[in-house]
Amino acid sequence: MEVVIAPAEELAVLAADAIEALLRRRSDAVLGLATGSSPLKVYDELARRHAEEGLSFAQARGFMLDEYVGLDAEHPERYRNVIATEIAERVRWPAEQVQGPDGLAADLPAACAAYEEAIEAAGGVDLQILGIGTDGHIAFNEPGSSLASRTRIKTLTRQTRVDNARFFDGDVEKVPTHCLTQGLGTIMDARHLVLLATGRQKAEAVHQLVEGPVSALWPATVMQLHPHATVLVDEAAASRLQLADYYRQTYASKPSWQGL
Ligand code: F6R
Repeated sequence: MEVVIAPAEELAVLAADAIEALLRRRSDAVLGLATGSSPLKVYDELARRHAEEGLSFAQARGFMLDEYVGLDAEHPERYRNVIATEIAERVRWPAEQVQGPDGLAADLPAACAAYEEAIEAAGGVDLQILGIGTDGHIAFNEPGSSLASRTRIKTLTRQTRVDNARFFDGDVEKVPTHCLTQGLGTIMDARHLVLLATGRQKAEAVHQLVEGPVSALWPATVMQLHPHATVLVDEAAASRLQLADYYRQTYASKPSWQGL
């Protein structure tokens, strides 16, 4: 696992560099997309590169991590709509090439199974962007999630609903109670995991992710078992890392030809 500690703007550029390198290698690459605040600067940087430098998403495929259950099709916080607004429309990514689990399906387990099949049919995710919850979730794999889980319905913790209330007029009761989420096993199948975390409120979750024992109590710790995982954190999110100096030293002495 590689840990990079840098200001948020630099982290976004690093993540965008990795995505751009992938797209220039393979124009039909498969990207895994997170919602929430953490990837927004990355999406801004990709939109800028699309507008100013011609970075193309015309053949790329995208798979979202998760979706709320039951939000109206038009609801601005429905993750499908968030991804359309924050990234897909800005880079003129053909809508049919970006998919998410269907939180409005009549048969939710069937929608989850279909989503797993769609990811597999696309050849799997090449690069998965991730954020982390203050309770250590990735996607919406809340504490207690099976480390081998696949796409399924989950109940959001009270903590996650409180954290996400800022997107729902500050009203926790408006935050849905359930979601569909890629499982930890699904995420672990992606070929490269790139997690972004900023702010002191993420410091304990980041410490557990990188340095804690692998445990369903802190679901993101499963990433320690991934052969290619990159953790991009600002100083505040890194503030509880025991080996922060070593991570800094390692990154500073990294050969310039070696991307993330
Ligand atoms: C959302 C997702 C979640 C968020 C996490 C952090 O698609 O996968 O795991 O990444 O809840 O949210 P932010 O980035 O808003 O702090």
